[in-house]
Amino acid sequence: MKILRAPRSMAAWGERLRREGVTIGFVPTMGALHDGHRSLIRAARLRCDALVVSIFVNPTQFGPNEDLTRYPRPITHDRALCRAEGVDVCFEPTPNAMYPKGFQTIVMVPEIAQQLWEGAARPHHFVGVATVVTKLFGIVRPHLALFGQKDYQQATLIKRLVTDLNLGVTIDVRPTIREKDGLAMSSRNRYLSPDDRQAATILYRAFRAGRQAIEEGIKNASTVERIMRKTVAQEPTAHVEYLALCDPASLEPLKQVQRQILLLGAIRIGKVRLIDNMLTGC
Ligand code: PAF
Repeated sequence: MKILRAPRSMAAWGERLRREGVTIGFVPTMGALHDGHRSLIRAARLRCDALVVSIFVNPTQFGPNEDLTRYPRPITHDRALCRAEGVDVCFEPTPNAMYPKGFQTIVMVPEIAQQLWEGAARPHHFVGVATVVTKLFGIVRPHLALFGQKDYQQATLIKRLVTDLNLGVTIDVRPTIREKDGLAMSSRNRYLSPDDRQAATILYRAFRAGRQAIEEGIKNASTVERIMRKTVAQEPTAHVEYLALCDPASLEPLKQVQRQILLLGAIRIGKVRLIDNMLTGC
């Protein structure tokens, strides 16, 4: 496995392979890789000739009081996982290489990035994500890029920008990988204390309660939402930021249950913020 740090070397590698007709798969990450990333890497490995994983803790997607400095960076573990999964290139640029002096371009997807859910809660976040993903696509020039459903709004935003900017990358959004007790895998789960780790399954349990209510025929979205909130309230350390039923395409909140529904939520347990979602319908 090659480890490339300079965007210029990464671009040259990709360009050469593209000219030879090789299909390039790409899994962009911020490292601290877990089985969720592993499943994306494996899916990409099956569909592409060559596979690139980027490991870059992107500073521009963190707000001023967020966890940029303490975000886990277990690079030896991450490289070993990539090597074991047959990754061809681990792209590990530095912040200076990605954002050199004079860098000023931003990519903005206003409705998805600022008005709804994660966008409203973290106003700078998606500008950082959209900009870095566009830049990574420009460097790696993949045919296929894979993202996890856990970050549903992020995946929606990336599909939008790829369409709007004609980037010519196929986006594959893969199912969320969960721990045995339902907790969605996330690099941030390692911030949870043992007690908080137990409590953290409450978000998944709330979605299950919501799904059950829908399956039992409840049609009013706020009734389902109340049921999910009541479930979260069983955990005294958990605080709801938002819990909603939305349209899976537009992410707009729903008033009534419809054929396809996205249950979407963010909670805080202690200082740790968890997001998750579940697709369901009636
Ligand atoms: O999902 C992530 O890990 C990040 O938001 C991404 C897509 C790698 C951009 O930094």
